[in-house]
Amino acid sequence: MSDHPLDAIFDRFITSPSIFKNHEVLRSSHIPERLPHRDDEIQFLGKMLGSALRNNRPSNVFLYGKTGTGKTIVSKFVTKYLRTRAASIGNSIVVSLLNCVEVDTDYRVLARLCEVVGESVPFTGLPTDEVFKRFKTKLDSKKQLLIVVFDELDKLHHKSGDNVLYQLTRINTDLKRAQVSLVCITNDLSFKETLDPRVRSSLSEEELVFKPYNATQLEDILSDRAIEGFNEEVLNPAVISLCAALAAQEHGDARRALDLLRVAAEIAERNSEEVVNEIHVRKATKQIEKNTVEEVLVSLPVQSKVVLWSAYILEKSSLKIITTGDLYKIYLECCKITGLDPITPRRANSLLNELAMLGVVNTKVVSLGRYGRTTKVSLSVSPREIRNILCDDYHIKKVSDFNADHLLE
Ligand SMILES: Nc1ncnc2c1ncn2[C@@H]1O[C@H](COP(=O)(O)OP(=O)(O)OP(=O)(O)O)[C@@H](O)[C@H]1O
Ligand SMILES: [Mg+2]
Repeated sequence: MSDHPLDAIFDRFITSPSIFKNHEVLRSSHIPERLPHRDDEIQFLGKMLGSALRNNRPSNVFLYGKTGTGKTIVSKFVTKYLRTRAASIGNSIVVSLLNCVEVDTDYRVLARLCEVVGESVPFTGLPTDEVFKRFKTKLDSKKQLLIVVFDELDKLHHKSGDNVLYQLTRINTDLKRAQVSLVCITNDLSFKETLDPRVRSSLSEEELVFKPYNATQLEDILSDRAIEGFNEEVLNPAVISLCAALAAQEHGDARRALDLLRVAAEIAERNSEEVVNEIHVRKATKQIEKNTVEEVLVSLPVQSKVVLWSAYILEKSSLKIITTGDLYKIYLECCKITGLDPITPRRANSLLNELAMLGVVNTKVVSLGRYGRTTKVSLSVSPREIRNILCDDYHIKKVSDFNADHLLE
């Protein structure tokens, strides 16, 4: 018998039964065979895009709804099957699914479209107009329909404006053989209003709103996935209802419900327990919250980190109320020590508002009686967490021991 220090751990993996039958099924990237409670949306999109099978150009369609309501999965589900059916009748339908979180510049969009129609272009370097021209020529070299799905379109628009969208909404008038249809998706309900009116009306020839799921619907979604994802009798019957109820309380987000279920089961498995129960779900809630905060903080631009760090320093100081004026004072000191060029108070305030939108700080306008009004700032995340995460940053490290008390009276 070997007595390797890992034997006890590895033996448990080998001998005790696993909770998961198929872990992949419980991830957001998996496309299940059925999508409960999205029949109407699937039918709607199927009818719209299905006209391509008769060689008609489908109208452009705009899909919106809050996060986790199934917009991405429904579009993938419908376009995947459309491709299968089109291939079976020898119809040339090309689908390009663009995730605008990554494909966020005109060049990237056009390069991806070139790729999907078989035109090779370098990753960078060509003028955008040239890439567009090459794409159009190649696309129109044969009779085909290209469906472009812009998922999270607001991200592209926010970064790069609506140039490429405008070009694509006009392209059909120049094409002789090929045609293009657009499916645009966003969870930013006010986004459409920010589009140029000409682009807006072309993009939303048809519209579909995805409503949040309620707790019962989320239970059905989870139960379906659980059958494929877990071994039998490993879930306490209350677990699915609890995950569904918690996610429904937030805003009917199926991703959240699935994450809760998966993480709860992971926690149970890590503790070598055979059944997932409510305690694991409660622990999963905490872990998911912690992960999201960490993701948000790590990815902040450096100036936002310094603004947030200034709020952290003040929270630790003897001040009772943190005002934006004091915060800017500390911010300037931090810039001096770190060697960063300071931004204006106005810009710092707008970064502060962004931090408030991300749920990292709280801002509230308060009256100071005859001294007018000011904005009061407080942290919405535990100072310990902010310290743990931000101190990994090269600039913040330099001000990690900065104490503000001598600057405040
Ligand atoms: N009806 C459903 N049946 C099964 N799984 C679903 C259903 N609706 C959503 N899901 C799952 O929930 C998760 C979130 O769905 P999806 O990614 O489609 O949301 P979304 O509306 O695109 O959200 P966001 O706006 O944040 O991108 C995915 O893992 C998806 O598989
Ligand atoms: Mg999505």
